Amino acid sequence: MNRITIMILGCGNMARAISLGIDKNESQNFHFILFNPSSNKAESLAQELKSSSVCYSLDELPVADIYFIGCKPQQFSSLALNLKDKLPENAIAFSIMAALDITTIGKKLQHGRVMRIMPNTLARISMGISLFASSSEISKKEQAEVKSYFSSAMEFLDIPEEKFDLLTPLLGSGSAFVYWLLEQMEEFARAELAGIVDEKTLAKIFKKLLYGSALLAIHSEEDNFSSLIAEIRSKKGITDACLIQLNAEGKTALYRAVQQGQKRAKELSLETEG
Ligand SMILES: NC(=O)c1ccc[n+]([C@@H]2O[C@H](COP(=O)([O-])OP(=O)(O)OC[C@H]3O[C@@H](n4cnc5c(N)ncnc54)[C@H](OP(=O)(O)O)[C@@H]3O)[C@@H](O)[C@H]2O)c1
Repeated sequence: MNRITIMILGCGNMARAISLGIDKNESQNFHFILFNPSSNKAESLAQELKSSSVCYSLDELPVADIYFIGCKPQQFSSLALNLKDKLPENAIAFSIMAALDITTIGKKLQHGRVMRIMPNTLARISMGISLFASSSEISKKEQAEVKSYFSSAMEFLDIPEEKFDLLTPLLGSGSAFVYWLLEQMEEFARAELAGIVDEKTLAKIFKKLLYGSALLAIHSEEDNFSSLIAEIRSKKGITDACLIQLNAEGKTALYRAVQQGQKRAKELSLETEG
């Protein structure tokens, strides 16, 4: 089995989750080279991976098959200065950064072979579906091969790259939307149940609500959420009254939130281009 070398550039939360997910793939032989400005993060990740080494300086860039860019978009320009013109010709630059498109990444690195994904926090439990796009310099066969390396960490959804920033607020940040809703519901309940139910029980109630709803949705034969809602909603009932109000006001708030995320993606991309 050929050894695949993946250099992780930026060992933060998301890179860590994905590397640990990739490492579960028993059908490949991986070696990770780990770089992070504060080297303790690279050292701690190294202890959890089957085969890895820590890189302390980018002055001499180690040879790898895949250079996994795990820093934040705002940190990329500084990283790119260290990588520019140094990536081996056949290597792939693989970005998880929000907002930065393949052309910008390629220009900064002076490297044409770039893949881009938009993961989400579910990568931590190998449950995520990531948006995927690639530069045309990488053949479909190679794209499939790289996807197979990551298959134990996530699934991929190929979409035109221009859709990435539009969908990032919903998919990249999606879990935060779900948690936010539960946080609001918990806050209401807390106010009503102060002195009656303790914090631990309150958290348990809403975590079970989330987990149970997810299980019901996954096991449902319906492929849309409207049908699941219809099972709970009866005309002129309590759920009905709540949902009429949510549709009237909540939907607008949600659209606005997504638009703010899309606007922020544009700003981040302009800041990095400059
Ligand atoms: N978190 C999410 O749910 C999520 C979802 C979708 C996409 N993403 C994308 O994932 C990327 C990482 O996000 P994160 O949440 O994992 O952030 P994070 O935990 O802050 O990780 C960023 C890492 O990059 C390192 N770094 C900083 N400057 C660097 C440089 N010049 N070269 C190499 N590494 C550098 C940081 O090291 P120091 O700590 O030493 O500064 C840190 O370990 C972002 O681009 C984000 O858009 C995240």
